[in-house]
Amino acid sequence: MDTPATLDEIREAALARLPVPARDFLEGGAGAETTLRRNRRAFQRWAFVPRVMNGLPAPTTATRFLGVDLALPVLTAPFGADGLFHPDGQIAVARANAAAGTASIVPEAGTHPLEKVATAVPGSAAFGQIHPLGTDDGFLDMVRRYEDAGYRGLCVTCDVPIGGWRERNLRNRYLPDYALFGGNYATIEQALGQLGQLLAPEAPVWSWHKLATLLARSALPWIAKGIMTVDDAHAAVGAGASALLVSNHGGRQLDDQRASLDALPEIRAAVGPDVPIALDSGVRRGTDVVKAIALGADVVVIGRLAAYGLAAGGEDGVVRVLELLRTEISTTLTLLGCGGLTDLNRDALVRVDAD
Ligand SMILES: Cc1cc2nc3c(=O)[nH]c(=O)nc-3n(C[C@H](O)[C@H](O)[C@H](O)COP(=O)(O)O)c2cc1C
Repeated sequence: MDTPATLDEIREAALARLPVPARDFLEGGAGAETTLRRNRRAFQRWAFVPRVMNGLPAPTTATRFLGVDLALPVLTAPFGADGLFHPDGQIAVARANAAAGTASIVPEAGTHPLEKVATAVPGSAAFGQIHPLGTDDGFLDMVRRYEDAGYRGLCVTCDVPIGGWRERNLRNRYLPDYALFGGNYATIEQALGQLGQLLAPEAPVWSWHKLATLLARSALPWIAKGIMTVDDAHAAVGAGASALLVSNHGGRQLDDQRASLDALPEIRAAVGPDVPIALDSGVRRGTDVVKAIALGADVVVIGRLAAYGLAAGGEDGVVRVLELLRTEISTTLTLLGCGGLTDLNRDALVRVDAD
């Protein structure tokens, strides 16, 4: 791959490489894709309010999230079936994160076993994602495997009691192969035992109480992923979550809900300044990262953007995505007249009509 100069170029290269069913699996959202579009529009509804000539030094993009040092306020999302985009999948993503000084949230439904991803580059596979589905023993076994492999925290996906209604996949008669999402399981039966509910709900949806009881057996801090309301934010913290990931799953689960960016300010106001908050869903540019932080996030999480890098150029492609994001963030902070991420707040933004 020639070195791409922009993030859009990386997306175009990725989409050009992928066969239609894989491209639709990556790009698509649930239902009429209203939430998918809304996620993007939400970023456009905030405009920057720049301040000039302030004599500040060049801003730093470095930060820390749940004890993990990051060179930029970006983590890569747990995206499963990663081998669809490149044979090295999350191993390449972890290596890229190490090169860029940031970290992965590694998916349970990934192509490669979580132990292999962790050992590819010690440290950068910082968080292990897990679905509260299947049997208690299966869930606890996965928690223990993340602990034993040296992960620093868990990310519990709370918004997937069943797979979303993904019409592009239905039209394409497409479901990723077991080999793409079953890397953590010895057999297809075991994979279906833990994740089979995604296809058809055979068991009741887990409760915060059940999740809290099982996770109390682990010393790892955990992030509650898929929080979109103040009530759920309080419930997650009450259940022991150390951090929140405000997310509507990139518009892939419940359609016709709000953009995650629109839920962020009230969630930050409700939990106060001390609960670390990440945001995902619709982040495609450095300016989006800066807006999310101004509205209360500590870091953002990138799903499709990381997958574009992976599909376009494997490890190098993801490194380039992270490099471009970092440059865009730093350029935006300077032009905005902001000394650094900690100086960002709501004063940097004003509400406008989406263009
Ligand atoms: C191809 C793909 C696979 C995904 N697989 C998972 C998964 O297995 N578990 C999970 O919690 N989230 C999964 N996600 C959702 C991401 O973690 C993240 O919430 C979402 O991609 C963020 O939105 P964005 O793509 O607009 O950045 C997946 C997303 C994509 C694009």
